[in-house]
Amino acid sequence: MRTKLPTWRTLSWWHPFFLLWSTIDAQTRYSIPEELKPGAVVGNIAKDLGLVVSELYRRDLRITSEAGKQFFNVDLGKGELVVADRIDREDLCGQRASCLLPLELVINNPLQLHRIEIEILDTNDNSPVFTTKEKVVKIAELVNPGARFPLEAAQDPDVGINSVRSYLLNKNEHFKLSVKNQKDGRKTPELVLEKPLDRERLPVHNLILTAVDGGDPVRSGTSDITVIVLDNNDNAPQFERNVYEANVSENVTPGSEVLRVKATDQDEGLNGEIEYFFAELTADLIMSLFDIESSTGSIIVKGVLDRENNALHRFDVTAKDKGNPEMDGHCSVEVRVTDINDNIPEIIVTSLTSPVPEDSVLGTVIALISAKDPDSGENGKVTLTVSSDSPFKLNPSVSNHYSLVTNGKLDRETYSHYNVKISAADSGKPALRSDKTILVELLDTNDNAPVFSQNSYNVYLKENGVPGSILFSVSASDLDSGENAKISYSILDSKVHDVSVSSYVYMNSENGSIYSMHSFDYEKLKVFEIHVQAKDQGSPSLSSNATVHVFILDQNDNAPAVIYPSSAALGSLSHQRMPRSAKAGHLVTKVTAVDADSGHNAWISYRLAEATDASLFTVSLYTGEVRTKRAVSEQDDSSQRLILEIKDDGEPLQSATVTVSILLEDALHEPISELRHHKASEPSKKTGRITLYLILSLASVSVLSLLTFVILAVKCMRNSRSSGSCCCMRRSDSDDYKNPNRNLQIQLNTDGPIKYVEVLGGDMMSQSQSFRSCMSPMSEYSDFTLIKPSSTTDFKEVISVLDASLPDSTWTFESQQVKELQLCPETVFLAKLRARYERCSRPREDL
Ligand SMILES: *[C@@H]1O[C@H](CO)[C@@H](O)[C@H](O)[C@H]1NC(C)=O
Ligand SMILES: *[C@@H]1O[C@H](CO)[C@@H](O)[C@H](O)[C@H]1NC(C)=O
Ligand SMILES: *[C@@H]1O[C@H](CO)[C@@H](O)[C@H](O)[C@H]1NC(C)=O
Repeated sequence: MRTKLPTWRTLSWWHPFFLLWSTIDAQTRYSIPEELKPGAVVGNIAKDLGLVVSELYRRDLRITSEAGKQFFNVDLGKGELVVADRIDREDLCGQRASCLLPLELVINNPLQLHRIEIEILDTNDNSPVFTTKEKVVKIAELVNPGARFPLEAAQDPDVGINSVRSYLLNKNEHFKLSVKNQKDGRKTPELVLEKPLDRERLPVHNLILTAVDGGDPVRSGTSDITVIVLDNNDNAPQFERNVYEANVSENVTPGSEVLRVKATDQDEGLNGEIEYFFAELTADLIMSLFDIESSTGSIIVKGVLDRENNALHRFDVTAKDKGNPEMDGHCSVEVRVTDINDNIPEIIVTSLTSPVPEDSVLGTVIALISAKDPDSGENGKVTLTVSSDSPFKLNPSVSNHYSLVTNGKLDRETYSHYNVKISAADSGKPALRSDKTILVELLDTNDNAPVFSQNSYNVYLKENGVPGSILFSVSASDLDSGENAKISYSILDSKVHDVSVSSYVYMNSENGSIYSMHSFDYEKLKVFEIHVQAKDQGSPSLSSNATVHVFILDQNDNAPAVIYPSSAALGSLSHQRMPRSAKAGHLVTKVTAVDADSGHNAWISYRLAEATDASLFTVSLYTGEVRTKRAVSEQDDSSQRLILEIKDDGEPLQSATVTVSILLEDALHEPISELRHHKASEPSKKTGRITLYLILSLASVSVLSLLTFVILAVKCMRNSRSSGSCCCMRRSDSDDYKNPNRNLQIQLNTDGPIKYVEVLGGDMMSQSQSFRSCMSPMSEYSDFTLIKPSSTTDFKEVISVLDASLPDSTWTFESQQVKELQLCPETVFLAKLRARYERCSRPREDL
């Protein structure tokens, strides 16, 4: 109220004017603003009513009020009417336009009654007020602009200009305020929608409505208005992304979640409740592999994924809300199936050359091989290997293609085929492997010559075989196969005794059997060679040679032949003479026989088969000497006849007989001179002379030989120092080895140490194979001819022949072994001779 004091001063200023008006009206009226302080002067009633102030007290001035309550007092000392209590116009008069308080003044002595009216004037002491401080207005989202929404009017107890004059709305996008003037003068505010609402953008709008009065100063009141926008299904579900991508391993277990799609709907309630589905027209394959959880949008693997079939699955997902009508949104899903090493690499032989010639050069392509693995990346990267111990290797060409080439020498004869094991491994972790075995067969080439089972064969063949019989079979083998191993045999041409070998034998070219073409005679041919060849049918063909040594074995096909007494004198009868004076042991004659065979077949023995007087004669078993058993007596017949059987030791045994006639003579004292010479025709007188010559010539030859030996020995010693050459002299006349003048031939056994000497009669040379003589210079027997040794010849024969050739007076071979012969110098000589012989007989093929 203090603030209103200036107003009161102004009022008091124009107060006399009111008083004047009251006096005239005979009724006194005062106007005061409400809410004056107690004590404030309303007017001087004493003066206005024409009273004397000094009398007032005495006259007992009082105020009476119809309302009962006294708002005023009279200051009796000054005669002024003053405010006694607070006066609120709105309390006293409400909304009435004028507010009058009637007062009555009572004065005694004389009693007088005065009416006074006090008009209470309004002051703006009230603000506009809204009954509802917070108002909520609900507006549907889809309401069109221009729609109006009435609001509550504000109240202000002040009247007139001090009451509500206008409304204000805070600044906002969507609404404006419109004030409607009612008929009763009230102003009511209205909200007008100016711009469409979007709940999703702003579901609640907070507005402030202000009411303003017209007082001075202006007073105002506010109300909060909350506009709630009601939802409409005006939003489709919206996916967070247009395309969802996920990688999922192909071995994922069914039931696993691949990914989760998510859509949002800005609407609320059912309008914003979303369910997820596969889009229409989704392929059955997708439906069989995946499931979608409609409430969560989780995509789950249902079937078995296989990257090799389908590496990428693409499908659409729809999200629907539950509004009415429903709205939907879409997105795409791409599920990439990532690789697992679940495929074993495969080896594919695209081409194979088999069989392969075994002489293929290094690097020959055998096969083209490729590797396949449907897995991707490292899991599908295949490396092929071939076992290092096989003569093959793999050459990589373009990706995953290889050629199998030879990497070493092939030999069909060692390995006719190869099982080439090829291994494939991919580069996955862990790697998967597989194997494949390729059979590579080798084709034969003619790289092996036929090989005989032996380089040389020794065949022992009995003489007198049947012509056309199989003599021997050679066989050769060839490691190659087919035609390359098909062998044909043939005999290479060579000479046997100047005759082509093919006239002796022929050969079955197919199986190597050698047939004789005629029978062989040991006595003519003791050994020969057949050169055979085995040749395969390859191209070019290969061959090899072998030698077949055919040794003809002696058969006992020759009967002993009697040399002395000469069988030339037919009838096998020969006359021998002997003196009757002969004592026991007298050598009557010596029967000599030879056998063309050799060995046992030529081992001759003598036996007395028949005799006129068996008591008189005996025959030496091996020498054939016929001697008297006892002294001849007078009674003995002068003509004795002996039949001697001569047998060899062969199988079957061959024999011959000879008949010897012996004439016992009375006067004859001469020894059997005829025996000195095998030519029995010589007269007995000459025999002594010849013996003498023989002795003389032997002696002279011996002396000469000794001289020659000494000379040559000296010469040899010199030569041997310089050249070491053989001192052996070769006979100039090598062909004429048969010396008709010398009938001594020495046969040596060269198999080992000298065992015996075989001395043969000269006429037997024709049947023996002879060798060139090689005489030691120290030898006195310079005319000796060496004869090929016979292993089976027995010394007895030597003795017998020697005996037959030489008279007993010259050579006395009593012993049958050389070492027992009393011929020491000769033994030494023979040993040396043998050594020479060995050296010189090497090139015997010359003959
Ligand atoms: C799927 O894998 C590919 C290739 O490995 C890669 O580029 C891509 O980023 C991956 N995607 C997801 C969603 O992991
Ligand atoms: C070779 O063939 C001939 C004739 O067919 C036959 O008589 C002979 O026994 C065969 N030789 C061999 C060693 O088989
Ligand atoms: C076999 O002997 C023939 C005739 O002598 C000769 O031409 C050939 O070279 C010999 N073959 C072999 C393999 O020695």
